[in-house]
Amino acid sequence: MSQPAAILKTVALRKVYRTGSLDVPALQGIDIEIKEGEFVSIMGPSGCGKTTLLQILGGLSRPTSGHVFVDGVDLADVSDAERTRLRCKKIGFVFQRFNLLTTLTVQANIEIARQIYGGPLISRDEVGDLLEIVRLRHKLDYKPLELSVGEQQRVAIARALVNNPAIILADEPTGNLDSRNSEQVLRLLSDLNREKKQTIVMITHNPAAAEMSNRVIEMLDGQVLSHGTVAELVEPEQAHSQAR
Ligand SMILES: Nc1ncnc2c1ncn2[C@@H]1O[C@H](COP(=O)(O)OP(=O)(O)O)[C@@H](O)[C@H]1O
Ligand SMILES: [Mg+2]
Repeated sequence: MSQPAAILKTVALRKVYRTGSLDVPALQGIDIEIKEGEFVSIMGPSGCGKTTLLQILGGLSRPTSGHVFVDGVDLADVSDAERTRLRCKKIGFVFQRFNLLTTLTVQANIEIARQIYGGPLISRDEVGDLLEIVRLRHKLDYKPLELSVGEQQRVAIARALVNNPAIILADEPTGNLDSRNSEQVLRLLSDLNREKKQTIVMITHNPAAAEMSNRVIEMLDGQVLSHGTVAELVEPEQAHSQAR
């Protein structure tokens, strides 16, 4: 069998935030490859550059130097308009704070996402079908704040799916959820990965969440510390503590 292609790849990626006279080096040379159909978790302490990396992978922010390839296309080689087009076509984002528009209904939130992504108008039935995936078809006319936080995150996932993206980038999607709702959201992401073959890159602090993924990329101080399954990453530490 041929190896699946790298759907996301970075080469010598660096990002420095310039705030006044202070330079904050957020990414210090990241080289990673994510294969089509992988479910990857990114872990690491707060401030180590996880969100910065995800935003650059998704074309929401530009690196200071280095390269990002999305499905083989070097984002440095394309215009801003083309980068936006690529992002809207191929990538769905899920955020810790859901980022739903609270004054609008669930249906309107998804309609607007489709408009922003530049797709054709979406019918009520199609919105219903998307909501069916997250088992919320019956909440089409609700407003976000009339839903539980777990339901709000599921709406946000449905919204991320509006253009049937090949890649889902999720930044601590269970960070604001209790364990029962976290489990539902994680199962949903895992199902999308398995059934629709969507590539998922998820930032998480939760080892149980990371366990659902195929691979964990561990970051520290803007660099990649290690790659491996959760078991592989946990083992050396356990071996260490047993030795003590
Ligand atoms: N917009 C910004 N301006 C300046 N510094 C930033 C900005 N965003 C993030 N940083 C800094 O970059 C580093 C990495 O941040 P971030 O990518 O948010 O890390 P994480 O998601 O792992 O917590 C931190 O030191 C943070 O303070
Ligand atoms: Mg973050």
